[in-house]
Amino acid sequence: MENLHKSVMINEIISFLPLTKSINVIDATFGGGGYSKTILEKFNVNQLLAIDRDPISKIFAKEIETNFLNFTLINDKFSKIDEIVNNTGFKNKKFDIILFDIGISSNQIDNAQRGFSFNKSGPLDMQMGSSDKNAYDIINKYEEKNLADIIYQYGEERYSRVIAKEIVKNRKIKFINNTIELSNIVKNCLPKKNQLKSKIHPATKTFQAIRIYVNDELSELKKSLEKTLKILNKDGLILVVSFQSLEDRIVKDFFNHNSGKRWRSSRHYPELPDKLATQLKIITKKPILPSASEILNNPRSRSAKLRVAQKI
Ligand SMILES: C[S@@+](CC[C@H](N)C(=O)[O-])C[C@H]1O[C@@H](n2cnc3c(N)ncnc32)[C@H](O)[C@@H]1O
Repeated sequence: MENLHKSVMINEIISFLPLTKSINVIDATFGGGGYSKTILEKFNVNQLLAIDRDPISKIFAKEIETNFLNFTLINDKFSKIDEIVNNTGFKNKKFDIILFDIGISSNQIDNAQRGFSFNKSGPLDMQMGSSDKNAYDIINKYEEKNLADIIYQYGEERYSRVIAKEIVKNRKIKFINNTIELSNIVKNCLPKKNQLKSKIHPATKTFQAIRIYVNDELSELKKSLEKTLKILNKDGLILVVSFQSLEDRIVKDFFNHNSGKRWRSSRHYPELPDKLATQLKIITKKPILPSASEILNNPRSRSAKLRVAQKI
């Protein structure tokens, strides 16, 4: 299987890594392995532990496993990062670099059978790895209000109620089986003038919402970020690339809270205890964005934001 994923902001990522020091690294979102491979090739890596919930990541890990004995891939969710570290020979080890490149890879979105794409005809699935939910059940079985709330909360789609209503109307006639059927239903709900003005496909936000909900993505990220604090070395770095505002807010809040700030930007983030120990120093006051040439060469990188913090 060919790796279709182009790693995003890899040069910016590696510019933060120490060149000579021996480092332990976690690549929490291995994907096609672009970050792991570059880091193993260019840096003095003691151990690199890679994680990905999608079983296809094992295919892309094969070549790296053959060439680097200090590389291990675990096929699991990154919310279990602490358990993974303890159960895989890394017990009591601390890490110098923990990387997250959130979202889905091109290997997932470009495979029509996975059901992530509103442009490609495929089954309504959208599971990144095994999940207890799938898109078909949500679209065909959830109550209209529940559906509308999901589309609004995770897609920030202002036409969520109209879309949910239309989905329910359509599924009464015939179950909605396919990504293109769903995409067309959503498209018909959005005013034509909005569609002409918008740079994104009309079904983008609805597909994003269903995918985030199916894979419990926001809670995965929150749980995992909290756990990194226990396994980071002093001066160790946490680097997160996110692709949409809900995720970026979680990262921003997590960094702010743990660096002594009280500000809470997202209602999805839990209320804070009064005092939180200061454990992080924010390295990127503003997120780093991809260069114009990277966006030109890889349009999927256009919404990426990189934030970095250091354990103190
Ligand atoms: C954008 S891709 C990473 C690409 C990678 N940096 C590269 O250069 O090839 C994101 C990957 O994270 C994985 N992923 C997303 N959420 C996850 C989670 N909660 N636990 C583990 N892996 C996850 C996806 O399966 C996907 O393969």
